[in-house]
Amino acid sequence: MKKRIICGSAAILLTGLSAAMFSAAASRSHEQAAPAIETPRQVIETVVVERGRYLARTAGCNDCHTPGYAGSGGAVPETNWLVGDSIGWQGAWGTTYPINLRLFMQQLTPEQWLIVARKPARPPMPWFALRDMTDQDLLAIYHYVRSLGPAGEAAPSYLPPGEVSATPVVKFPG
Ligand code: HEC
Repeated sequence: MKKRIICGSAAILLTGLSAAMFSAAASRSHEQAAPAIETPRQVIETVVVERGRYLARTAGCNDCHTPGYAGSGGAVPETNWLVGDSIGWQGAWGTTYPINLRLFMQQLTPEQWLIVARKPARPPMPWFALRDMTDQDLLAIYHYVRSLGPAGEAAPSYLPPGEVSATPVVKFPG
């Protein structure tokens, strides 16, 4: 008799436990389903943009195309990244200004970007680094920069040798 009572309460306890576990599992799966589910396309877009962000910061694009980035060890908010710079780079080639990539990318299709990115540019733009990137990496940079949206002003235009820059310059010898 006593044994049966113990078994009975164990059974009730077990039933209660499994009911609790079931409802916990049900509410967990409910919580997971609640946020908007990303489509495979959205997941790919996120991965591509992340890759572009990684490349922009590790391939040095911010060093010249983001004001104050190199001098501050990269302590510039991402909202100001790649807006170009009015500090000129002066040498035998004249004076060049790192263009505003945030505005530049808006005007291009991905196909146009792949062509433009691989064309020679004046020093000190490391255009050969872009030439040697895979299409995948170039497109990641493209989608990343576009994901930041347009911002800032156009950088000053290129000046041929001998012309005086209205803004400060970094001088290269020779
Ligand atoms: C050492 C400085 C420097 C670095 C680093 C740099 N750029 Fe530039 N970039 C420039 C300058 C200066 C120009 C303007 C060149 C000109 O007037 O021909 C330029 C121009 C460009 C252009 C325009 C090219 C064209 O054909 O009009 C693109 C696109 C560009 N940079 C992308 C990048 C990307 C992407 C990175 C990172 C991988 C990068 N740059 C790194 C200095 C730099």
